[in-house]
Amino acid sequence: MSNDPYADLGNASQEMQDRLVEAMIARAEDPKQIEMRRDYMARLSLPEGARGVELGSGPGDVTRDIVEVAGAAEALGIEPSPIMVEAAKARHADLKTLTFEVGDAKQTGLDDESMDLVVLHTLLIHCPGPEEVLAEAFRILRPGGCLTVFDEDPPSVTAAVGDHDPFRPVVDNLIRAYVHDRWLVRRTPALLAASGFEIQHRDGFLYLPATDSPYFLTIIDRGADTLVDDGVIGTALAAGIRDEARRRVSAQSFFGSIAFVSIIATKPG
Ligand SMILES: C[S@@+](CC[C@H](N)C(=O)[O-])C[C@H]1O[C@@H](n2cnc3c(N)ncnc32)[C@H](O)[C@@H]1O
Repeated sequence: MSNDPYADLGNASQEMQDRLVEAMIARAEDPKQIEMRRDYMARLSLPEGARGVELGSGPGDVTRDIVEVAGAAEALGIEPSPIMVEAAKARHADLKTLTFEVGDAKQTGLDDESMDLVVLHTLLIHCPGPEEVLAEAFRILRPGGCLTVFDEDPPSVTAAVGDHDPFRPVVDNLIRAYVHDRWLVRRTPALLAASGFEIQHRDGFLYLPATDSPYFLTIIDRGADTLVDDGVIGTALAAGIRDEARRRVSAQSFFGSIAFVSIIATKPG
């Protein structure tokens, strides 16, 4: 099993699940993140009465976009962390066409060819055995149905503003600890083809949030804590790293950026 806490979040500590709910909500509410995910959602052209599913739905904002942006009649979010599922239900209780369930992307229990759209939004880089997720997506999609994959390219994540900036090892260690396969995005087109999908559209985005991005602060904070967990630094230095991030925010000198890739593919037929 991977050390990536996202890979088995349902069995992670309550503290870890709570922390990642908070980080994923901060990311879901980030205006630049909303822009990137709505870009690919808006390109989809779904049939009337379409049903969509997000595998690895986290706090559910992307599942919500399946209805509100892609125009599906209903959407289901499947997610192994019960705490994430409860957070998603609470966040989206106002939209009755959304359902959230605890489950596994590799074995959804959904019928063959029952979905018009399957969304994998920052799931695959965290998943040991991404081929199994793609095989399940292929099975549940109707012929002609759409698959979307959106992931960050982990080697591109940076918060450094100069040579020897201590944020560099902080970010590197976060990726080591929180990403199962840091090179996956670069192999995704080949994986999709091997799973029987046809790629229709591919795009790249540079996520360059505002200098006071709450989501990027969670990256620095969690990265500092991974160095403490590894016994590399003590808690006083981790607190100093967190303070430095906030100092840069106050001075408007905080910088962070990540490259993301979106792919729209179809099941032939
Ligand atoms: C980085 S989060 C993204 C959440 C959501 N897609 C979003 O962008 O807001 C990855 C999510 O995938 C879930 N996940 C990991 N392995 C999974 C699996 N085998 N089946 C379903 N979900 C999984 C994790 O629990 C986590 O909530």
